[in-house]
Amino acid sequence: IDPTLDLVAEIDRLRKERNAVILAHYYQEGEIQDLADFVGDSLDLSRKAAATDADMIVFCGVRFMGEVAKILSPSKLVVIPDSEAGCSLEESCRPEPFRAFREKHPDHIAVTYINCSAEVKALSDVIVTSSNAEAIISQLPADRPILFAPDRHLGAYMQKKTGRDMTLWPGSCIIHEQFSEKELVKLKVRHPKALVAAHPECPDSILNHADHVGSTRNILDFVLASSAKEFIIATEQHIIHQMSKAAPDKTFIPAPGADGGCSCSNCPFMARNTLEKIYLCLKNDAPAITVPEDLRVAALKPLERMLEMSK
Ligand code: 13P
Repeated sequence: IDPTLDLVAEIDRLRKERNAVILAHYYQEGEIQDLADFVGDSLDLSRKAAATDADMIVFCGVRFMGEVAKILSPSKLVVIPDSEAGCSLEESCRPEPFRAFREKHPDHIAVTYINCSAEVKALSDVIVTSSNAEAIISQLPADRPILFAPDRHLGAYMQKKTGRDMTLWPGSCIIHEQFSEKELVKLKVRHPKALVAAHPECPDSILNHADHVGSTRNILDFVLASSAKEFIIATEQHIIHQMSKAAPDKTFIPAPGADGGCSCSNCPFMARNTLEKIYLCLKNDAPAITVPEDLRVAALKPLERMLEMSK
């Protein structure tokens, strides 16, 4: 790429030329969030991808998010800036062991977190995100046990919230797993007025200290509505970009890892996306997401059920 190129201007020009919509998750770098047409949590982004009338979707997040967009909007060209932007939760739950897990529990309803592959979605009864999991689980027949995959922390939190009988897949997110309870308590002592807002992918040891637990958008809404001035944020730290923009008078402190610092809350997969790569994917139509039609149709079913049950 010509180093003198004004990337933001070029992305703007190409987005119009291609009739493209740029969707970004809250975990993206601030400069990517700022140029996106829409920034949201996993559920809002899925809804946007399903409803857009653009010809092309540029999905700035991780690969499974682009895959969800393609499953919901098969006639659109869906590109992602970096095809290597994976997800530790997706990695932790491969289709074959998941199929065996299901077969071992034939009477269970398989409720699967959206952070998984199309193959695992296709083997599931209903997909959830952290913002609709509780509402969806409460609508499921009370006499049926639940298999929850792949995030064991979100699963355990849902078990606690809904009182349902659940068998959990042993997966977790490498980011949320690294927050340190000891360092969090030390930080709270130094900031006694700060409220803790945490994502349900955090382990119980962190959620026990939270004043509020929710999806990325839900945490954002909470800090903006609260009269408190200081917050400790226990999720991927780039969401703080939106918080500081919307409430510049409030202070947001990323939750600490074992070294007391916040480098642990920087998702290496989300960080693969850059302005250069967004420019290139708009220009080259690649990397494009493709999903074989039989797999797409099978994965669409539990995704549509999710959208239906979270209206
Ligand atoms: P939400 O944006 O739905 O809270 O999900 C966060 C996440 O895990 C993205 O990978």
